[in-house]
Amino acid sequence: MEFNVVVDPASAWSADTVIFFAFKKSDDYLPGFTSWIASDADWVAGSPALSDFSGELGSTTIIYGSGTSIQRVMLVGLGPEEKFGVEQFSQAVSAAFQKSRELKFRILGVPLQAFEGIVLEDRYEHFVAAAIDGLYSFDQFKTEKDDKNELPKTVRFLSEEEPTEHFLESIAKGRAVGMATSYARDLVNLPPNVANPVYLADEAKKMAKKYGFKFKAMKRKEIIDKGMGAYASVFRGSADEPRLITLEYCPKDMEGQKPLVLVGKGVTFDTGGISLKPTGFIEDMKCDMGGAAAILGFFQALGELKPEIPIVAILPCADNMPDASATRPGEVVTAYSGKTVEILNTDAEGRLLLCDALAYSKQFEPAAIIDLATLTGGCIIAFGWSVAAVMDNSPKLQDLIIESGKSVGERFWPMPLWDIYKEELKSEVADIKNIGSREGMTIHAGMFLKEFVPENVPWAHLDIAGPAWRKKKTPAGAAGGSGFGVRTLVEIVTRIDLEDM
Ligand code: BES
Ligand code: MN
Ligand code: ZN
Repeated sequence: MEFNVVVDPASAWSADTVIFFAFKKSDDYLPGFTSWIASDADWVAGSPALSDFSGELGSTTIIYGSGTSIQRVMLVGLGPEEKFGVEQFSQAVSAAFQKSRELKFRILGVPLQAFEGIVLEDRYEHFVAAAIDGLYSFDQFKTEKDDKNELPKTVRFLSEEEPTEHFLESIAKGRAVGMATSYARDLVNLPPNVANPVYLADEAKKMAKKYGFKFKAMKRKEIIDKGMGAYASVFRGSADEPRLITLEYCPKDMEGQKPLVLVGKGVTFDTGGISLKPTGFIEDMKCDMGGAAAILGFFQALGELKPEIPIVAILPCADNMPDASATRPGEVVTAYSGKTVEILNTDAEGRLLLCDALAYSKQFEPAAIIDLATLTGGCIIAFGWSVAAVMDNSPKLQDLIIESGKSVGERFWPMPLWDIYKEELKSEVADIKNIGSREGMTIHAGMFLKEFVPENVPWAHLDIAGPAWRKKKTPAGAAGGSGFGVRTLVEIVTRIDLEDM
């Protein structure tokens, strides 16, 4: 799908349909729609279709005309005005594009007046990102493709005047984040026999080459030789080779500056290991690299947007399998930091590879660390499918994450890391054990990670177990990987001041 701008008098506009928005049952439509009807489309005013329109969020009504170059108007419902926000707008835009595909429209016209009355910062960016997100489909493995999935081909922004620089930049940014989100969704949706750690490393390498990032991928032997015993315990039973991927993005003349470090859980399949998951809990576990996928997607956006801030990605990738050589519950391993860990449940593997990646991050001298991980089922029990948990040692970083997420329609909510929870992780035989009781498991996982964060570095752990994956199609998008986190990371980067953390 391509996005372009046509500057012409309204009488010369053409498209399979033009799109306008309206809030729930207000006969006073958005100002741009009203004025367009008055000056250029009086045939719309008399249409009975206008009274069919409810304005219900995500609903669409088509108004047919004849004898003009615009043959249809799609009126898209935004829901009640007092509940309107970025999530509603994205949902409405996605619905409009899905409807357009269903009706096999090739060219969508979007008069710039359609945005009048939509009071959202970055509304153009959200529009483009939601259009791409709404049309996302994953059909790589279907031998019969649906031709409709190629449509619409073109989005034509229609304007009577030259658009502003700001508008053009917003469109480019929306496109970059939309494509980055789709890419993250692809990585999650790819089956585990394709998207294994080596595949993810190859993807990172390709991206590094394209955008000039520094790239490294440690192999099995090097991970073990470096002393990452916690990480190594996860892949001991796996035939797929692990990779510890690092990507470094550094703008010109910023080499001396401390970077933002992002750590992503990259478990390409989580069987649970010897603590094997039962049927009903194992099927979707290709999603367990959702943190790494979001960071790879984000790096694609970085390559396009080139912000002025140094960023490092550390992605410990492995798959977690039972095998004759797999780690047994009860084993004690030595982590990269030197701490000994008693592994009482091999299904609590995410924290094992993350703890070594967090400790390893020290060598990049991070100004701040954010980790993203599909870490606990408990987080889904606590917050449901669409909300991520944030646990941290820095109220400032926490605030930044929650606010950044809010502005792009991704929800984060805090959980505490109080010292009272430390008791849970006391081991009889080692420095720490990898599980506590079931009750409070999301926090215990956060407490475990906290022990391995380099000292005096602001850090936040994002448990994205719920929102990284959609069990079924929702108004927010197709089933499967969601790309959750990509947009928040892009937003964080525009807001963060690494010298004042
Ligand atoms: N990858 C899972 C968490 C998960 C569950 C992600 C459902 C997405 C959807 C993680 O490795 C895991 O198995 N966690 C255990 C922790 C327990 C053993 C302390 C869990 O959630 O049960
Ligand atoms: Mn697990
Ligand atoms: Zn896992």
